[in-house]
Amino acid sequence: MKTKIKKRQRWSSNLGIILAVAGSAIGLGNFLRFPAKVASNGGGAFMIPYFISLLLLGIPLMWIEWTLGRYGGGFEHSTAPGIFHSVWQKNRFIKYFGIIGIFGPLIIFIYYTYIVSWSLAYSFFSLIGKYSKLTDQFSMQSFLKSFQGLEKNQFFTNLGWAYFFFCVTFFINIWVVYYGIRGGIEKVCNFALPILLLFAIILLFRVFTLGTPDKTKPTWNVLEGLGYLWNPNFKILLSGKVWLEAAGQIFFTLSVGIGVILTYASYLTESDDVVLSGLTAVTTNEIAEVILGGSIIIPAAFVFFGPQQMQAIVSSGVFNLGFVTMPLVVNKLLFSEIFGFCWFFLLFLAGVTSSVSLAQPAIAFLEDEFDINRKKAVIIFGIVSFILCQPAIFLSKYNVINELDFWGGTFFLVLFATIETILFGWIFGMENAWDQIHKGALMKVPKIYKFIIKYITPLFLISILVVWLIQDWLPIIYMKNVETQNKPFIFATRIGLFFIFFLLAILVKFAWERRQHKSV
Ligand code: ALA
Repeated sequence: MKTKIKKRQRWSSNLGIILAVAGSAIGLGNFLRFPAKVASNGGGAFMIPYFISLLLLGIPLMWIEWTLGRYGGGFEHSTAPGIFHSVWQKNRFIKYFGIIGIFGPLIIFIYYTYIVSWSLAYSFFSLIGKYSKLTDQFSMQSFLKSFQGLEKNQFFTNLGWAYFFFCVTFFINIWVVYYGIRGGIEKVCNFALPILLLFAIILLFRVFTLGTPDKTKPTWNVLEGLGYLWNPNFKILLSGKVWLEAAGQIFFTLSVGIGVILTYASYLTESDDVVLSGLTAVTTNEIAEVILGGSIIIPAAFVFFGPQQMQAIVSSGVFNLGFVTMPLVVNKLLFSEIFGFCWFFLLFLAGVTSSVSLAQPAIAFLEDEFDINRKKAVIIFGIVSFILCQPAIFLSKYNVINELDFWGGTFFLVLFATIETILFGWIFGMENAWDQIHKGALMKVPKIYKFIIKYITPLFLISILVVWLIQDWLPIIYMKNVETQNKPFIFATRIGLFFIFFLLAILVKFAWERRQHKSV
């Protein structure tokens, strides 16, 4: 029997995929997570483990994922189960390890979309002046809580707004992926990235010209604010946690170890470059992170709140900085509505270009392994993920988002990257891997990376996992640090995650049986 050969999607050009990968990478991580991590982990000293992780983990993994993705695409596979199987065909189990590359992005998508929707809501609130009268942290914090439906007895009255903006954001995501990589994702990244960078530059310029707004406090100025962020505290380098945090930030910000770049790269051909393109995406992300992300939020908050209050804000949570502090900061500026809108719309655009990439692996899996056409696959994904988003929204007061972030956005990310690196350097073999990387390449990878990819990157990753297992495994399993009232919900979340993973395993098994059936 003849089987119908599908026409694979392709990017319109190398620039198309570079912008899409940069769009996936540049997100809330650059503008919210990075400055908070720097400020709470030794300031400028944090940049030492950060840059070491970039060189030894981030850049190698970017090349590994681009190359493995393109290789798997040659076998008509766009997601990790199929790509891993193409690399190690003799191993019957390797495809099951690939499930992480669909599971991880799906779990991140579930809570990330909700947080992105807060940015959309806040940009709208800024324009209509909904929080323009609030002047202190306390009232801003309670505004955020009540928006999320977390204030006592306000669950259903206020969550309505949050739910409305969530639905709009969710719909925009699904709408973009519905039109495919060329008609949807590429188009959105083409316009969103330049606007995002423009808004960031406007805000950066505004922050740098803030001077010393409170003349009675001459040290509360921009230079001291930058110093607060960047002055190095070298003692901190002895802490294992700081190294873990730095490696974690590199994974999160570059979107590596998740599975989305494998899928994006699977739509390339062997004549397309992956070396320079991967490096360009990394460079674009790092400029957005270190220069723009590192220069807006903390110096701005510093000049208005001073070092003590800043410390309290930084340690009170990554997202508080963006949603609690920035509205207060912009409220103090002339044209506050416009600057508030710029800041939150910037976060929104950055979030959307990342979240559409997170939707991609699950959709591509349905398309490739079950021959479901794209539009149907998007609708199935839309319905299933919409249902899965509900606990993240309605149970957020029980810390369900943090739990999803830990498994989907941290632990599985490191595990997945370790598997990819071993597959690439050891199973594929470094000589073969080197040839694959350089197919269509516009530049050569420095030779030292042959050694780094084979030995250093996997060793680094395995050490991270081992240290984590030794220090944290038991307390996490026994929920030692979970508040008693949250325990049943956290336990239920874990059961839910296990169930999703198990279901994906069944789908993979079914897909392979189907494939075998078709080929006889
Ligand atoms: N890489 C994306 C971010 O930084 C997920 O937010």
